Amino acid sequence: MSQQFDVVVIGGGPGGYVAAIRAAQLGFSAACVDAFKNPEGKPSLGGTCLNVGCIPSKALLQSSENFHAVQHDYAKHGITVSGAKMDVGQMLARKTDIINKNAAGIGFLFKKNKVANIHGLAAFKGRQGDKWVIEVTDNGAVVDTLEAGHVIVATGSSPRALPGLATDNQLVLDNEGALALTAVPKRLGVIGAGVIGLEMGSVWKRLGAEVTILEAAPTFLAAADQQIAKEAFKTLTKDTGLDIKLGVKIGEVKAGKKSVAVNYELNGEAVKAEFDKLIVSIGRVPNTQGLGADVVGLALDERGFVAVDDHCRTNLPNVWAIGDVVRGPMLAHKASEEGVAVAERIAGQKPHVDFGVIPWVIYTSPEIAWVGKTEEQLKAEGVEYKKGTSGFGANGRALGLGQAQGMVKILADAKTDRILGLHMIGPMVSELVSEGVVSMEFKAASEDLARIIHAHPSLSEVIHEAALAADKRALHG
Ligand code: FAD
Ligand code: NAI
Repeated sequence: MSQQFDVVVIGGGPGGYVAAIRAAQLGFSAACVDAFKNPEGKPSLGGTCLNVGCIPSKALLQSSENFHAVQHDYAKHGITVSGAKMDVGQMLARKTDIINKNAAGIGFLFKKNKVANIHGLAAFKGRQGDKWVIEVTDNGAVVDTLEAGHVIVATGSSPRALPGLATDNQLVLDNEGALALTAVPKRLGVIGAGVIGLEMGSVWKRLGAEVTILEAAPTFLAAADQQIAKEAFKTLTKDTGLDIKLGVKIGEVKAGKKSVAVNYELNGEAVKAEFDKLIVSIGRVPNTQGLGADVVGLALDERGFVAVDDHCRTNLPNVWAIGDVVRGPMLAHKASEEGVAVAERIAGQKPHVDFGVIPWVIYTSPEIAWVGKTEEQLKAEGVEYKKGTSGFGANGRALGLGQAQGMVKILADAKTDRILGLHMIGPMVSELVSEGVVSMEFKAASEDLARIIHAHPSLSEVIHEAALAADKRALHG
């Protein structure tokens, strides 16, 4: 006998679990099917983000920052700490506790909202009347058959592999392996200076590894505003000590018994490098295999993502897709907002996801964050703009924190003064970027930010000062 639901969500990551909860809140009978198993082989909700992505990476970033601070920053405060040691096992145990706590929390929310929590791999089987038939298997055996009025595909993404190089998560690591190293490698190689490469490289560098990052693109962080990216390159190479090589052409990569040999070309010269561990972080690919897309004719786009319109509608009636498996940035908050919007659209509401105002954060130290257009984009689009910048160097709160590095840049329309972008590198800019998101959503002008009272002393004063600078009224510049 099939179980009947109004809405079945495939995938329990930040897109899927949020969509299921919202659907249930709107009065639908909802189920969420998720296949993820933790290293103990137990189901664990939360998808990539909670289990092997956003949350564990931030836990390790914090642990490694603390270790670094004890060694390098505490003395300035007059605090002597001798014999500081890193217990990697304890660091990983803390990370696992955080994951387990949050995963259990999602299970609790499912119970509270009466979302059926089904473990297994879901695949489209066909259509029964006006219902979609979904089969759920676990370890190859069929465990459930579901019939659903609406299906939301939220199957997420997986690491892109380097052609010809197998990931074993012992020597050659993807994000799962990079988050689970049980000892600090002496020589860590990273292929790809994107978000994962920079975050994971920072963790293991701060814990003592020599880190070399090999990036194919000639431009560092090409998606970021280049003034901020240049500042980031300087501090990440000089202060954090990451050895970032740009414009690299990766050649043969061979995993031996204890190390990995990487041959690459840089500025026309052939280089041979040897690493104890190698992280491959060259982007991610959508999870559509085994979903039965071909069985029901679910259309994929030319890059293999489930093809959707602006409202996350697929080519099939009442089949929706959200998050990493569809176009757009691979970010947890983007996935969640699409999930909420789809559930509300199924309920007949008219939600809107503003793709132009999605915040980006890279959790290096200092952090990098932005929302809206970069200066390069505005130039390319021929938009006339004005800009204001201000640094954290003289900000009292940043100095007190001992993190007075970085800057804020605001970009506003030259005629209307409407804020078009806010770009930052500095302490806790992951939090500060929200001011830009709110301002842009409310279509604020840079003058609005300049006239709003910001607490003193606070990091947000740098945004205030940048907004004043946009109008050539900087008080401390
Ligand atoms: P996922 O989180 O990938 O969840 C999909 C789920 O569906 C998985 O559990 C998968 O097992 C399951 N599944 C797949 N196929 C099936 C099937 N057929 N049947 C049943 N279940 C299935 N984003 C941020 O915004 N901030 C960050 O700080 C951040 N840090 C990251 C750090 C790392 C190391 C990585 C790898 C990613 C990070 N991301 C971050 C990206 C973020 O994890 C993703 O954007 C987000 O998880 C996408 O959510 P999703 O719900 O679309 O998919
Ligand atoms: P990415 O797209 O951020 O970066 C991949 C990098 O690898 C790019 O700079 C690319 O030029 C480079 N590259 C590609 N092929 C290469 C090759 N053959 N040789 C050398 N370099 C090559 O992808 P990444 O870091 O794997 O992360 C995947 C996604 O996960 C991100 O795009 C992001 O959406 C998400 N993420 C978000 C985080 C956050 O929000 N803080 C943290 C980590 C991941």
